[in-house]
Amino acid sequence: MDVFKVSSNGPLKGEINVVGAKNAALPLLAATLLTEEEVTLRNVPDLSDIRFMVEILAHVGSEIENPEPGVWKLKATNLTHVAPYELVRKMRASVCLLGPLTARLRKAEVSIPGGCVIGPRPIDLHLKGLTKLNCQVEITNGYVHVDASKIKGGPIFLGGRSGSTVTGTANIVMAAVLAPGTTRIECAACEPEVVDLCNLLVKMGAHIEGIGSPELIITGVEKLHGCEHSVIADRIEAGTYIVAAAITRGDVTVKGIPANLLGAFLDKLEEAGVPLEVSENSIRVLPYSGSLKPIDCITLPYPGYPTDLQAQLCALMTQVDGISIITERIYPNRFMHVPELQRMGADIAIEGPSAIIKGASNLSGAPVMASDLRASAALILAAFAATGDTWIQRIYHLDRGYERFEQKLSALGAKIERLSDKDMPKELLLD
Ligand code: EPZ
Repeated sequence: MDVFKVSSNGPLKGEINVVGAKNAALPLLAATLLTEEEVTLRNVPDLSDIRFMVEILAHVGSEIENPEPGVWKLKATNLTHVAPYELVRKMRASVCLLGPLTARLRKAEVSIPGGCVIGPRPIDLHLKGLTKLNCQVEITNGYVHVDASKIKGGPIFLGGRSGSTVTGTANIVMAAVLAPGTTRIECAACEPEVVDLCNLLVKMGAHIEGIGSPELIITGVEKLHGCEHSVIADRIEAGTYIVAAAITRGDVTVKGIPANLLGAFLDKLEEAGVPLEVSENSIRVLPYSGSLKPIDCITLPYPGYPTDLQAQLCALMTQVDGISIITERIYPNRFMHVPELQRMGADIAIEGPSAIIKGASNLSGAPVMASDLRASAALILAAFAATGDTWIQRIYHLDRGYERFEQKLSALGAKIERLSDKDMPKELLLD
């Protein structure tokens, strides 16, 4: 098993390019099932989650080529309607097959994805949406069975207890584009990744109005056709590298990211006093001395502060004098990074859905355990600010969502090495 050995770092310096967004590429790949013609996707990141999705799409019958890095050509001529548990359990986002299989084959059988460490991952809103499209939806033996022989458009309110649902919106949009009649989705997710999916579907011949707004109007069409599409930049990867620069007081330019995708995040960093030069397609973090200012932050659906950048902000705030409060409104349990940060010396208390962070703490390197994709990144950012070496185990979590993470950060001067757990001092191996 791979581990990261991260040593105390001075300021990171240089330029870093952002790749295509994992959370856009996954539904985009699923959307290729909606046509029998070839769809070419470019700027697809090289991640284990992408390889899982490709494996599932091949299993249901898609013919797939990967002619060069980042480019995938998919042709869904003969499809089966079943996405089995042994594949779906590997990655929750495979639930995104539900919409396209339902629309294309008028039936679907998709295993219900398990929960994960960030909390229960219900799909009740996905199923509500399909029911509102006049589909028969049943759950038996851990599978969702959909009979869409009588599918038709209709009004759907898709909001839940935590507001909108990203993959839920993706699924219902993908089901509705081939459903006869008109579908109006209220409380649709507005994340850039959903906008990217809608833009692909329009290129394929779908009729969607209100893209980027909480109300989508979809007029169903008979068929969709092939096209080419480039995945939008990964705003979460960009934000992670921006925090890496800020926590090391470095001078780093993050390139290839439209700043307008990071509104709430940049606003919060500016409130903390991180010096930023924001251009249309890049963000430069400038060095600073003294302490940043503590912040009060609440994660919300887009355009609010993204939950996927919450752990990274926690790590940064451990280095800030004063008391910061970070409240998690999307996944109230999404604080697996906190016990590990505490092992490194951070002073954080969890009060309900909030982390109360008292800074600044002198962090020291320790053996820590990655638990989910973004928590893993936060531990590495904290290790840059810690004295001594930090050994991070179970970094396969990180490989799901960050392409060449250690190489890209090493190019900025970070002391991060990917080693085998056999190279770890025996006494540091966690169970
Ligand atoms: C997407 O997950 C992202 N994953 C997540 O990123 C991200 O954290 C999340 O959106 C929120 O922004 C992908 O896009 C592949 P949701 P998704 O449905 O769609 C509740 C990462 O690190 N809910 O928007 O599964 C749910 O419990 C990952 O890259 C229901 O109640 O999230 C949560 O509280 C982690 N019923 C809230 O809504 C439902 O049917 C938002 O979930 C669906 C969701």
